[in-house]
Amino acid sequence: MGVNPNVSRRTFLTWYMAGLMTATVVAGLAPILVFIWPPSPAGEKKANVGVKLDTPVSKLADGDAVRFDAPQNTAFIEQDGGGANARGNLTYAGYAVKQGGRTIFLAVTCSHLGCSVNFNQDAKRFECPCHGSRFSIDGNVTHGPALSPLSHLKVTEQGETLLVAGIMTGGA
Ligand code: FES
Repeated sequence: MGVNPNVSRRTFLTWYMAGLMTATVVAGLAPILVFIWPPSPAGEKKANVGVKLDTPVSKLADGDAVRFDAPQNTAFIEQDGGGANARGNLTYAGYAVKQGGRTIFLAVTCSHLGCSVNFNQDAKRFECPCHGSRFSIDGNVTHGPALSPLSHLKVTEQGETLLVAGIMTGGA
């Protein structure tokens, strides 16, 4: 009794089509999954990075912003952004901003080309020393060349310590 060539051809085509469809779905989903769960670069471990502010959040007045830096061998993860910033990018400092009775946490990285913005206490705005972009106290662009707002950081307040979503490198 021989093998029916029609059956084995049909079987082959079925498996071939199934493989092709699976590959297409995986190729389509991969970029979405990477967007949702950005991979950590090799040797880096996601962690909540503890930082203390010069002025605790509870003592910030409305319209205040205080800078905090990532300790050595750590970095913070941007939660969103546009331009030079993107969800999953690393940044090395941020600002705790009190406005309208609530506190937000912004990354220090300018969305134009990545310089660090400074807070102008008198004007209550962020200013980039590189090409003059300005951002309102809540991080929105008020003056170009930047086109996108500052990125947010994910922070859990634990007493006077901030736990900032970030990474630790192998040297930590
Ligand atoms: S890097 Fe900030 S304005 Fe260009």
